[in-house]
Formats: sequence, C-alpha cells, structure tokens
Amino acid sequence: MKLLVTGGAGFIGSNFVHYVIANTSHHVTVLDKLTYAGNLESLKGLPSERFRFVKGDIADAALVDELVAEADAVVHYAAESHNDNSLHDPRPFLDTNIIGTYTLIEAARRHGTRFHHISTDEVYGDLELDDPARFTEQTPYNPSSPYSSTKAGSDLLVRAWVRSFGLQATISNCSNNYGPYQHVEKFIPRQITNVIDGVRPKLYGKGENVRDWIHANDHSSAVLTILDKGEIGETYLIGADGEQNNKDVVELILEEMGQPRDAYDHVVDRPGHDLRYAIDSTKLRNELGWKPEYSDFEAGLAATIAWYRENEGWWRPQKAATEAKYKEQGQ
Ligand code: NAD
Ligand code: TYD
Repeated sequence: MKLLVTGGAGFIGSNFVHYVIANTSHHVTVLDKLTYAGNLESLKGLPSERFRFVKGDIADAALVDELVAEADAVVHYAAESHNDNSLHDPRPFLDTNIIGTYTLIEAARRHGTRFHHISTDEVYGDLELDDPARFTEQTPYNPSSPYSSTKAGSDLLVRAWVRSFGLQATISNCSNNYGPYQHVEKFIPRQITNVIDGVRPKLYGKGENVRDWIHANDHSSAVLTILDKGEIGETYLIGADGEQNNKDVVELILEEMGQPRDAYDHVVDRPGHDLRYAIDSTKLRNELGWKPEYSDFEAGLAATIAWYRENEGWWRPQKAATEAKYKEQGQ
C-alpha cells in the first residue's frame, strides 16, 4: 500500500512512520509543513525506496489533491496539538485542524481514497477524579479548549463526509501519548529535560489532574489495526489503561533521574484545565483484536528518559524558546 501520512514529522506521526517501515511493506509519503513542532531529524535514516518527504500545508488544496490522488490510504496526524498554545493564539488551530482536515477529506472524497482520521480523547471533555466511568465511543462530545474544540470539529466533519458523501473513513480517539520524539513543550519531555538542565519540574495547580498514558508505539499498532480491519464509518477509542496523576508522574521522573521526589514546583494552573481523561478501549480490543504491548508505565517512562538523555541534539534547539514562552505565561 502507498500511505500518505500527514504530520509525519511530528511526535506521533514520526513514531508511526518508523513503526510502519519496520513492521509492514507499505510505502510512506509524509506531508508536513514543518511548523515549530515538526522536525526532519525525527525521520532520519528511513530507506529512500520506501519513504518520501514532502514539505507543505494540508490546507493547500492543489498539493493535497496531487498527493491524495497517488495514495491508497491517508493517515491524518497533522494538527496544531498543544492546549497551552491554543489558549494564547487559537487561530492556527482553526486553520490546520478545521480547514486542513476539510481540504484533505474533500480530496479523499474526490479520489475515493481510504482515510483514517487521528483524534484525541479530549473531544469528550473531562471526568471527575472519583467517577468510575471512562470515555467510550458513545460519550457525548464536550470539548473544553480551543485545541480540543477544533479536534472535535474535525471529527464531526469526517463523520458528516462519511454520511453525506460516502467518504471511506475511520476515526480513532487516543489518550495522552508518551515516548521518543515528543516536543519539549509537552508535560513529560518538559520535565525530563528540565531535570537534565538542573531546573525543577513545573506542576500546574495541585497536580491532581489525571491523564491516561499510552506509549506512542501502541498508538501506532492500533492505527495500523484499524487501517487493516476497521469498519468504514466507525470510531475506535485507543487507550492502554495507563491512568496516572501529574504529581505521581513528576515524582516518578525525579526518582528515575536520581533526584529527591519532592524537588518540583507548583506553578499557575492552566485555564479550563481538564481534570481527568480515561479511555475504555473495549471495542477496539474485542472487535479488532488489538492489545497494547507497553503495559508497564514505569518501564516505558524509564526508556523515554534514557532516550532524552541520549538524544540531547534532537531536543536542545527547541528548549530555550519553549521555556521563554512558558516564562512569559508564568508557567
Ligand atoms: P505534534 O505537534 O508533535 O506534530 C504535529 C505535526 O503536524 C508537526 O510535524 C507539524 O509540523 C505538522 N503540521 C502542523 N500544521 C500543519 C499543516 N497545516 N500542514 C501540514 N503539517 C502540519 O503533534 P502530535 O502530538 O504528534 O499529535 C499528532 C496527532 O495526534 C494530532 O492530530 C493530535 O490531535 C493527535 N493526538 C495527540 C495526542 C498526544 O498525546 N500528543 C493524543 C491523542 C491524539
Ligand atoms: P500536556 O502534555 O500539555 O497534554 P494535554 O494537555 O493534552 O493533556 O499536559 C499533560 C498534563 O500535564 C496536563 O494535565 C497539564 C499538565 N502539565 C503540567 O502540570 N506542567 C507542565 O509543564 C505541562 C506542559 C503540563
């Protein structure tokens, strides 16, 4: 198969590309604008006969049409992805997440191309800490931030294009990912690289917020499973039973990196900060037979810490500008 992977120079997209090259015989074309979040270094060393990189915008209709026409399937990761950025400058989130997705599904409709839309559990809003419930495919949409509302909007566009135009699409909503190649603006890499720099980790508010962590490789295997066996028009939730509160994650990072467990600071909370996300991935597991490989969060975190220690050249160029932005925000 010839896959067109949008956003393949970002965190999860690049992990997916490496996963596909290692585990299938598919050819991959990456379309990526190389925003501040895209990094060609994340795609280094891929075999040229199986991989091609195209720099461009998913909202560029002519370019998108040409690339979709050549592809057997599109896997759509490209997005503005960071909640904190969306609170300070929402516009790029509308341009990429809404208009960009619209541009891609119009091309996929014209060419009858199989389309898989990557989304997030954040479209469902949040859960109480003591709520036994987890998100399922039936949970009503209730997004909180400009980021999650534009992702929700893009999901609804894909659903409408399936129903109205017969778009050959599936959707997946995944929980928080961790692993190599994640930008240092995000929670886990920010704290790891802070500790490497001798800076205390920064916890928003009380640190009680819960995220349901999944290793990026498990996200990739789930997406390949859906591409292979998923039913057109269906949504699948992807999660690996990895609920952890932020305070526990910071303490684990500090301990693994040989620091006292309480060597962190509380900083100003994120406005509208979602309390808890939790995924019930029964449908994906029972109907398509998927299961995650990384069941030990502490081991996955230790491997991720080792990756950031060994790949300082990858993250160092972004670190100072990212921290300068956080400093302006009091975070
Ligand atoms: P990221 O910010 O690391 O990467 C996004 C990539 O998209 C970058 O390479 C960037 O250059 C590219 N891009 C941005 N705008 C573009 C445009 N207009 N045209 C072409 N390329 C563009 O994001 P990520 O964390 O890897 O997330 C990837 C996808 O997975 C997103 O759709 C996100 O909503 C979804 N998701 C993320 C998580 C998570 O934990 N990070 C969880 C669930 C779902
Ligand atoms: P983040 O990685 O931004 O992902 P998301 O907002 O999509 O869940 O943040 C994960 C959690 O960590 C979230 O509850 C916010 C919190 N957080 C901190 O406590 N400190 C930080 O420096 C950052 C970046 C996030």
